[in-house]
Amino acid sequence: MIRFENVGMRYGMGAEVLKDITFELSPGSFHFLTGPSGAGKTSLLRLMYLAHRPSRGTITMFGQDVGALDRKALPRLRRRIGVVFQDFRLLDHLTAVENVALPLKIAGGRGPEIEEHVQELLSWVGLEHRMASRPSTLSGGEKQRVAIARAVINRPDLLLADEPTGNVDPEMAERLMHLFVELNKLGTTTVIATHDMSLVRKIGASRMHLHDGRLQLLGAGESPISPIDAGALRPTTSPPGPEERA
Ligand SMILES: Nc1ncnc2c1ncn2[C@@H]1O[C@H](COP(=O)(O)OP(=O)(O)O)[C@@H](O)[C@H]1O
Ligand SMILES: [Mg+2]
Repeated sequence: MIRFENVGMRYGMGAEVLKDITFELSPGSFHFLTGPSGAGKTSLLRLMYLAHRPSRGTITMFGQDVGALDRKALPRLRRRIGVVFQDFRLLDHLTAVENVALPLKIAGGRGPEIEEHVQELLSWVGLEHRMASRPSTLSGGEKQRVAIARAVINRPDLLLADEPTGNVDPEMAERLMHLFVELNKLGTTTVIATHDMSLVRKIGASRMHLHDGRLQLLGAGESPISPIDAGALRPTTSPPGPEERA
């Protein structure tokens, strides 16, 4: 469904921030994307939602070679992808309900069923009292929940979320993770970038772990091999894992 082969990425003329990225995500799979700050998580997500082109390698999305697509084909692919941006990107002139309804309207939906469906989802994420509020009047955690509702409302084939629980308390974080898990059970392939290792452990999904732009694929519960552990010189005290440093 999604395949990266020897993908590299750079910003402008800078050094590569992603190097030799190779992986394949099968339809309906669930993955966390972990790694310290600056490791390349957001950059990898940008490639996956087609906001940035790779500097080398091949990316295949839904069976199509992204490098061979013309401009007109991109929006059609993007509509199959739900994205929760780290900075939310809500439309400030629209209410919470209108923001969340937008993907359904763009997909051609009309009528009162839309509003009902949107209100149900917003209630589920604890925003029943915020339906008519504009983003500028919402807290960070509230905006985040609107952004999540908007990303999942039309059951995308692929859901990408960048630190989606960074602004909410642990209880809400777990609730939101369960929303992602439920959506995944309905068939949505899911990739969630997060720093929150306690949530990763709780959910127990497989991990894509980035370190300095390189990717390691880990099973549930597996720890990344740090360069020091992997080297010949083993320190007497073990270095902190990437999650502690992040
Ligand atoms: N727009 C940009 N222009 C130039 N460099 C960038 C840009 N965005 C990120 N970077 C660099 O790319 C590297 C990876 O960043 P990022 O993907 O944001 O990592 P993470 O999300 O894991 O914190 C970092 O070195 C960062 O400074
Ligand atoms: Mg990031």
